[in-house]
Amino acid sequence: MKQTLKKLVETFGPSGHEQAVRDVINSLVSECADEIRTDALGNLIVRKKGSGKKVMLAAHMDEIGLIVSYIDKNGFARINPVGGVRTLYEVCGRVLFENGTVGVIGMEKMGGSSQAPPIEKLFVDVAASSPETCPVRVGDVGCFLQPMVQTGGHLTAKAMDDRVGCAILIEVIRKLKVSPYDLYFVFSAQEEVGTRGAVTSAFGIRPDVGIAVDVTLTGDTPEPQVKMAVSLDKGPAIKVKDSGMLATPWVKDWMIDTAESGKIPYQLEVLLGGTTDARAIQTSRAGVPVGCLSVPCRYVHSPSETVSYADVRHTVKLLAALLSSPVHPRLA
Ligand code: CO
Ligand code: ZN
Repeated sequence: MKQTLKKLVETFGPSGHEQAVRDVINSLVSECADEIRTDALGNLIVRKKGSGKKVMLAAHMDEIGLIVSYIDKNGFARINPVGGVRTLYEVCGRVLFENGTVGVIGMEKMGGSSQAPPIEKLFVDVAASSPETCPVRVGDVGCFLQPMVQTGGHLTAKAMDDRVGCAILIEVIRKLKVSPYDLYFVFSAQEEVGTRGAVTSAFGIRPDVGIAVDVTLTGDTPEPQVKMAVSLDKGPAIKVKDSGMLATPWVKDWMIDTAESGKIPYQLEVLLGGTTDARAIQTSRAGVPVGCLSVPCRYVHSPSETVSYADVRHTVKLLAALLSSPVHPRLA
């Protein structure tokens, strides 16, 4: 599974440009799928057919990125964010553009300020000296260039948000032989720009219940950005609430009961900011019950998003247990 994850996180895939990620996933799951299709927005939908109620699982393929807004007179590419980019995490990083160009992110002088720079202060140095010689053009998108590394039990990479969720769904697709449900695994597009892929895929699938698998923040580093109860290495976080979604109580309880009876470690998550595909599923059509399993992740939206491999394995175990017999009474 580590090899799958390494392949996924190192693949290029900012929002709206998920093609390469979709190809990797397709090659890994096609022989285990009863149906597989890509919809107009770019979601990859993998069905494992069953006679029971429809369960939609969602993990997003896209990652945050940068888009060229203009090339200045000295050949530096100026950029806008794609998704929740934090400029502090960008400075002096390397950007890979879709055409293979690699640039370094520089920053204009800031006059003694220790605050995060506004995006207008950043530029991408692609070794050009004029707009004419610049190897990228307006509208080109880029993402971090960063290999995955392992330190102790932790894995660090760009795009762990949410290729780790994709890797978990892939593992469940390959491991789960029978399920009492009709399963739709959605590898969604454009989550980072407003859960857009989940909006269209949930509408098309009409699920009876939805579960998103995504990362969440942690409160376990020195003076953390947010104070919260989630830590690395303590198991998957069962989401109770984030800024866009209140988990449907019976779905949350189903997750808790399944973890407890399977002796799988878990934590409860209340996240102050951000949301996931579960929000889009919950508010689709006339409303759908939803829950979300989160993989705790340090340094989210940076080139060094860090997760615990034990947490990843436990998330696979919990998701597989949820999708196995017995059928939940609400889904009978
Ligand atoms: Co994200
Ligand atoms: Zn995410």
